[in-house]
Amino acid sequence: MDQRTYRVAVLGGDGIGPEVTQAALDVVRAAGVAIETTSYDLGAARYLRDGFVLDDATLEQLRGYDAILLGAIGPAIGDTRIPGGVLERGLLLRMRFGLDLYINYRPFRGIAGSLAEGCEFAIVRENTEGPYAGEGGVLRHGTAHEVATQGSVNTRFGVERCVRYAFERAAALDRPKLTLVHKTNVLTFAGELWSRVVREIGALYPTVEVDYNHVDAACIYFVENPARYGIIVTDNLFGDILSDLAGAVTGGIGYAASANLNPERSSASLFEPVHGAAHDIAGTGKANPLAAVSSAVLMLEHLGEHEAARRLARAVQEFNGDVATLGTVGVTRQLIERL
Ligand code: IPM
Ligand code: MN
Repeated sequence: MDQRTYRVAVLGGDGIGPEVTQAALDVVRAAGVAIETTSYDLGAARYLRDGFVLDDATLEQLRGYDAILLGAIGPAIGDTRIPGGVLERGLLLRMRFGLDLYINYRPFRGIAGSLAEGCEFAIVRENTEGPYAGEGGVLRHGTAHEVATQGSVNTRFGVERCVRYAFERAAALDRPKLTLVHKTNVLTFAGELWSRVVREIGALYPTVEVDYNHVDAACIYFVENPARYGIIVTDNLFGDILSDLAGAVTGGIGYAASANLNPERSSASLFEPVHGAAHDIAGTGKANPLAAVSSAVLMLEHLGEHEAARRLARAVQEFNGDVATLGTVGVTRQLIERL
């Protein structure tokens, strides 16, 4: 069979983004997967240079790739030249919403020495609704009578497709378990919708054990008993917050990968490490590429390159070198040797 060449849009972005993305591409190619890349210069540096964030034409181009690989986006900490939201809403969320990347899948595996050592679980975060939808506004701005509202949008359609995806993932686990995380005792409108949908869809997956945690309690369990989790399904904002905590208890977000998925494949899906641009170490060769490489593993799975994904995931798992001394190039070389 002829080998397929995948067309991948690469958004290296800012800080360490381009370095770790390059490492991920090197490892993917070494695993024998043919990819043809097109680079897009987007992010903080681009915005500061010419004011461009993202336009409709670029978004439409991105839609047509087999996948999008993103490094990191954002200015250095303390750099106040870009108002909050310009890049988050204008670039990252615009891609998530515009390409209908309605699942944010974030798998975690506790590395040796971490609080969650040996635990494996994943967060399935709804990625197009909730408080991120942008519902709300401001009245009488800057006056004593200012009103600011920011609603949480939860549609039956949006919740159901997310919950269905989460159950599919949970059913495939050795110990099939799904935990809904929410705050149903306070957010009673949205909470009741999420709970009902989990109950209804859960009836179609009798092998999956279903559990529920309030989000505040989940924060305790993440630290004290992370082994209780398999798949966690939750809304956009809870999923954002919990995934940083999950990163912290499993060894640091330097290891955490994520997939922004359009499971129907009507658009390219986007793969990115959870960490930021770390401008302080950009260009020093010290950046840890493992999260970017793990994001590339998720990309390979989505592309159907399961064999290469398995080998690459194993290389990451078995990696036991010291990232600080090996540096980006050293880690990349070791991963390639282990393939
Ligand atoms: C993430 C990030 C984004 C989010 C920001 C940068 C908009 O924190 O991917 O977790 O809140 O989703
Ligand atoms: Mn986040």
